[in-house]
Amino acid sequence: MPTPPVAPPQPATNKSQLDPLPPSVFTLPQTAQLEALYTIIRGKETSRGDFLFYSDRIIRLLVEEGLNHLPVVKKVVETPTGATYEGVGFEGKICGVSILRAGEAMEAGLREVCRSVRIGKILIQRDEETALPKLFYSKFPQDIASRYVLLLDPMLATGGSAMKAVEVLVEHGVPADRIIFINLISAPEGLRAFCGKYPQTRVITGWIDQGLNEKAYIIPGLGDFGERRHVLR
Ligand code: URA
Repeated sequence: MPTPPVAPPQPATNKSQLDPLPPSVFTLPQTAQLEALYTIIRGKETSRGDFLFYSDRIIRLLVEEGLNHLPVVKKVVETPTGATYEGVGFEGKICGVSILRAGEAMEAGLREVCRSVRIGKILIQRDEETALPKLFYSKFPQDIASRYVLLLDPMLATGGSAMKAVEVLVEHGVPADRIIFINLISAPEGLRAFCGKYPQTRVITGWIDQGLNEKAYIIPGLGDFGERRHVLR
């Protein structure tokens, strides 16, 4: 019996709403496989187990991409064959900082890739009086000023929390160009605001969506990321 035809790989269908992208923004390669992962996690009927599994897969890809943006220096090793290999090694120390609560869901993905990585936390919420993002809590490694920081928050909506987080990190001595902000889905509005304020900070995003609705949810988005993973907000 003849083998049934296999569909050739298709390019993903994402047409970014931000064209051209700000130079500090990097998306994951927009492949059909990546789009299939996003299609699963966006679906409202997707079980929590599948949401966890497939969002973790995307987080892993994002963390790996984030690490591609760290500087390296030449490093020479001797191999078991007695030959020398002129390669590279990471230049500096890193840490993660998760924006609570949803960002905590990305910590495991970072730990899988960077063994015994230090991870700080930051809690930012809307100030009811001013309606502006306000810092409620932060805990960082004491030497954070000398580290590259992978800032973790799954959804870049208005950009308010991410900009406040970078402001706090800069106050703690981390240069903005040593921060790499990693998220799964961005709204163009948030990306524009963030990159306008912190053009030196790299943003690694998996997918750029259409925009925000009146409740500042990303459209089409995936709903409330924390709720879907059952992380309390
Ligand atoms: N946070 C979420 O979890 N979802 C959005 O769409 C926007 C912010």
